[in-house]
Amino acid sequence: MGQPSHAQRDWWRSAVIYQVYVRSFADGDGDGTGDLAGVRARLPYLAELGVDALWFNPWYLSPMKDGGYDVADYRAIDPAFGTLAEAEKLIAEARELGIRTIVDIVPNHVSDQHPWFRAALAAGPGSPERDLFHFRAGRGAHGELPPNDWPSQFVGSTEPVWTRLPDGEWYLHLFTPEQPDLNWDHPAVRREHEDILRFWFERGVAGVRIDSAALLAKDPALPEFVAGRDPNPFVDRDELHDVYRSWRRIADEYGAVFVGEVWLPDTERFTRYLRPDELHTAFNFAFLSCPWDAGRLRTSIDETLAEHAPVGAPATWVLCNHDVTRTVTRYGRTDTGFDFAAKEFGIPTDLELGTRRARAAALLSLALPGAVYLYQGEELGLPEAEVPVDRIQDPMHFRSGGSDPGRDGCRVPLPWLADAPHAGFGSGQEPWLPQPAGWASYAADRQQGDPDSVLRLYREAIRLRPVFGDGPLTWLPAPEGVLALAREDGAVCVVNLGGEPCELPPHRAVLLTSGPLDGGRLPSDTAAWLTA
Ligand code: GLC
Repeated sequence: MGQPSHAQRDWWRSAVIYQVYVRSFADGDGDGTGDLAGVRARLPYLAELGVDALWFNPWYLSPMKDGGYDVADYRAIDPAFGTLAEAEKLIAEARELGIRTIVDIVPNHVSDQHPWFRAALAAGPGSPERDLFHFRAGRGAHGELPPNDWPSQFVGSTEPVWTRLPDGEWYLHLFTPEQPDLNWDHPAVRREHEDILRFWFERGVAGVRIDSAALLAKDPALPEFVAGRDPNPFVDRDELHDVYRSWRRIADEYGAVFVGEVWLPDTERFTRYLRPDELHTAFNFAFLSCPWDAGRLRTSIDETLAEHAPVGAPATWVLCNHDVTRTVTRYGRTDTGFDFAAKEFGIPTDLELGTRRARAAALLSLALPGAVYLYQGEELGLPEAEVPVDRIQDPMHFRSGGSDPGRDGCRVPLPWLADAPHAGFGSGQEPWLPQPAGWASYAADRQQGDPDSVLRLYREAIRLRPVFGDGPLTWLPAPEGVLALAREDGAVCVVNLGGEPCELPPHRAVLLTSGPLDGGRLPSDTAAWLTA
């Protein structure tokens, strides 16, 4: 086959990557839970959409206490989803269609059902098995207080990050008690993860998403967390970079790439993870959290490009994922930014407005230099669902004392066929999360036949996107509230975030618009792609 061409090797620098939350994508065996058979059956749909890669949320054996982010065996597929042989087939079949696979590795913690943690519980205090985790005596006269008061990584959680065992010791879990944190100072933990990476690279995966990538290392003295004090005892510790350098050497052997889940407000600290011998890319959460405002978006784009440039890493553009409010809902609210701490039930939402903006935002993100992430259902314009309280499963809801609706609203099973039971998600049992009334109106088959649908817009935009080339971006003069950008090798993107229609800049042709023009002018909350 010879050496891959430069373009093939660098596919990840400008890829459109589709995020598959398997549990909610498509139910092949009719048990109400999405599965690998469902994904395999829908590969032609993904190929037609034109995506370059699929990122699968964790598909491993898991008690599903946190949607699969509580992994009991990183080398086995959860039986609810299928088998390892099926995963191998899926990886190969996708590749035949030109689609690469990215798996999700969860290195910060394991499930409490993982053999290591079970062995640690059985072995008791002081045992080497417990050294793989963070077990400690408590504070107070009888050890009745947790070893420290670190805040939970589920924003809004009122619960401690330590759980006490009957033998008196406490163990650390930055998320739920069913997700004990690993001790990354232990060589066996490092060895095991290097082996897990090889396991998946050997099976043909082209990349790995690293869950909670900035949280692994902990200060062994477990000092109290003090806001603003440096270094933080459990976020973004310097020792982590050494871990990722060793991971990078392994990925390079296979030509595979990483995308890190790195939530850090400090952009200089963030880009350290993207140095040439560390991670290839990281999610752009600043862009995902940015309100629908021309000035704020332009600043966010400029800062993103400026901070990535010195390390030579491509930017990523993300509007939503399985943890945050869906884009059309967010943009239809008074506060159009995203903040975990601001989530609550019953926020008034104008879905018509939100959808118009989400369509325009799709054209904006797909016009920017770098890779674009697309979360399943975003291409259908799905809104955030209000899941009835008695059906909520997400631990984030429970750990907030019930005030946070949790993340199930963006994880509702997809509608495929407008006229089929469960909107075609599966032909058997009720989906694991209820689909709200009207869900079928978003069904892929209905959108397929409607040239004005969100699905058709995404397909067309992904097909046309190469006209932007891979050159840098320059801003064109534009009225207040309007963003106009040109890419060096070609096309122009204009987005009107102002209240009035605006004139389009000089152009040869209009390639695509996110909504109808108004007598040649670009209406509010609408975007256009032009050739100059
Ligand atoms: C990441 C995941 C999220 C999960 C958490 C704990 O933030 O995206 O879904 O709950 O890590 O693994």
